[in-house]
Amino acid sequence: MSELVTLRTRPRVDLDDPISLLEEDHGRIEAQLASLEGIVAALARELSPSASRALSVPLHFFRMDGLRHVRDEELSVFPRLRSAGHASLVEALIDEHRQANLIFQSMRTVSTHMSLGGVTHDLVQELGVHARAHAEVTHEHVQREKTVLLPLLRALPGAEKRAVAKEMMARRV
Ligand SMILES: [Fe+2]
Ligand SMILES: [Fe+2]
Repeated sequence: MSELVTLRTRPRVDLDDPISLLEEDHGRIEAQLASLEGIVAALARELSPSASRALSVPLHFFRMDGLRHVRDEELSVFPRLRSAGHASLVEALIDEHRQANLIFQSMRTVSTHMSLGGVTHDLVQELGVHARAHAEVTHEHVQREKTVLLPLLRALPGAEKRAVAKEMMARRV
């Protein structure tokens, strides 16, 4: 099971810098997408109970850390960028969060069916459809944030950035 789960050591981040915190999260999100893809591929080859149990790791990550990342952005970053004149970008990114979450909930439902009734080829196929859609939406979203959102956040005054980082750190205690 261990080979199905991608582990990353936490790099050092500047705790006063919200951009490094968000970049660190994006790296972990990408790593968990890769884990999920590997688990789905393993299940497609063989209906292994260990692979289906391994699913709980990325699903837990997206349910907890992924949701915290969304809260960091929607509660601390986006309001400041909306005030700075970037409302349409913010609305588009929020819409992408909603899309990814809807697909994620479908994956959780399939995983619950697997836990309750066993792993079947039909469930693995359904999981694969949701996992690919979730990965596609999330990869594109993270890419857009890297190229458009983070440069706008970087351009905010230092006091604003420190306030964002302080709010983010308060969600990590
Ligand atoms: Fe986001
Ligand atoms: Fe993000």
